Amino acid sequence: MASNSLTITDNRTGKTYELPIEDGTVRAMDLRKIRTDAEDFGLMTYDPAYVNTASCRSSITYIDGDRGILEYRGYPIEVLAEHCTFLEVAYLVLFGKLPDQAELKEWVNEITHHTMLHETTKRFMEGFRYDSHPMAMFVSSVAALSTVYPEAKDVLDPENRMRQIKRLIAKMPTLAAMSYRHSVGFPYVYPDNDLSYTENFMNMLWKMVEPKYAANPVLARALDVLFILHADHEQNCSTSAMRAVGSSQADPYLSLSAAAAALSGPLHGGANEQVLKMLDEIGTKANVPAYIKKVKDGHGKLMGFGHRVYKNYDPRAKIIKWTADQVFEVTGRNARLDIALELERIALEDEYFVQRKLYPNVDFYSGIIYQAVGFRPEFFTVLFAIPRTVGWLAQWEEMHRDAEQKIARPRQIYTGGRKLAFIPMEERQGAVAVK
Ligand code: SDX
Repeated sequence: MASNSLTITDNRTGKTYELPIEDGTVRAMDLRKIRTDAEDFGLMTYDPAYVNTASCRSSITYIDGDRGILEYRGYPIEVLAEHCTFLEVAYLVLFGKLPDQAELKEWVNEITHHTMLHETTKRFMEGFRYDSHPMAMFVSSVAALSTVYPEAKDVLDPENRMRQIKRLIAKMPTLAAMSYRHSVGFPYVYPDNDLSYTENFMNMLWKMVEPKYAANPVLARALDVLFILHADHEQNCSTSAMRAVGSSQADPYLSLSAAAAALSGPLHGGANEQVLKMLDEIGTKANVPAYIKKVKDGHGKLMGFGHRVYKNYDPRAKIIKWTADQVFEVTGRNARLDIALELERIALEDEYFVQRKLYPNVDFYSGIIYQAVGFRPEFFTVLFAIPRTVGWLAQWEEMHRDAEQKIARPRQIYTGGRKLAFIPMEERQGAVAVK
């Protein structure tokens, strides 16, 4: 078999170049050798939205988009969702191994004892209008935590990084619950260390005047599974933001707020909220064919469908669908599920979607469960950000340990004007921009 390399002939000069192929890639910097003369900068790759560009080496999450495979540190997501708790999976994603009994006990204890927030956080919250979007509150409050932990700026100290990682994982549910309580005008509920990660989250959201909150175990387990499914997903938009901002050695609170800001977009983590709005717009099963026609005519997208990597059914969507049945046993069936199932049935048979390999993704069914459990649609993306905090931090930590990584700074193809003659103010009337 020929050597693991690419032979390129530059037809501008007739020269040939041998580029090594490593892990299915060629190094973009190797293209810089291909020049027309000594003055030439050399070739770059042009890849808008990095559709075909590997930005790092990572051993955290493996996805096979064609086969609908997702593994965290080599373990299939289906196995983890069935057998683990979210904090157990968080340990796996962060440290690369499943914890033994003692390690898990210590880890849970650590996280449990970092769930409290500095009291000044209440004043951050009071600054928001009661009807502020929870993701805007989340992004801003996470960034504000940077003021509470100034030592977090020492990102080159591994022990300091780990201290902030534990704080962030532990405090995200508290912050999220605080934003919810603020939006409904209820007093804040402090963490209860007797409860599990998700039971405590439910406690801080929904405890009223009862002496001790008792979470419904089926709903708590469903949230735990949903958190497992959302923990990481390799180099998605928000994780790339975490790595890019973190690469400047920004502290983890500011970096994570940038990642959460990226997640808030309707094409990314904001899709789960848009799915509910779409299902409400459709209204009944009978209206599904007309809505699908509208999408096929180019008017909007089928929210919760399609994926940059999965060209098969998102394995997380399958598990979420199964989890929905458990939840509806407790909450009663959400009528929107019937509309979603009909939408999926028709879309999966329709050439437009089949040809473009558009399948339900993680966001298609998650919102239906969240709503059945009692969350409002605008809170859904916060429910995505809480578990994804683990993935963002694991990727951030991996970046800091990677000797090949440095500050992210892509190149561009310049298309603007050059060395233009200055135009004095009196001559600018009606001047147009140079294309
Ligand atoms: C998440 O990257 C990750 O891993 C993300 C995520 C994670 O865990 O971090 O998995 C979480 O963000 C899931 C995706 C949630 N977003 C949505 O459900 C929004 C709806 N989906 C689309 O916007 C879209 O599918 C994306 C953004 C998810 C992916 O877009 P791509 O890869 O850029 O694909 P594309 O826009 O180039 O689409 C290819 C074709 C186009 O048609 P043509 O121009 O070829 O005619 O498919 C069409 C698109 O118009 N298309 C859709 C569609 N998604 C793509 N048409 C209708 N409905 C859709 N949902």
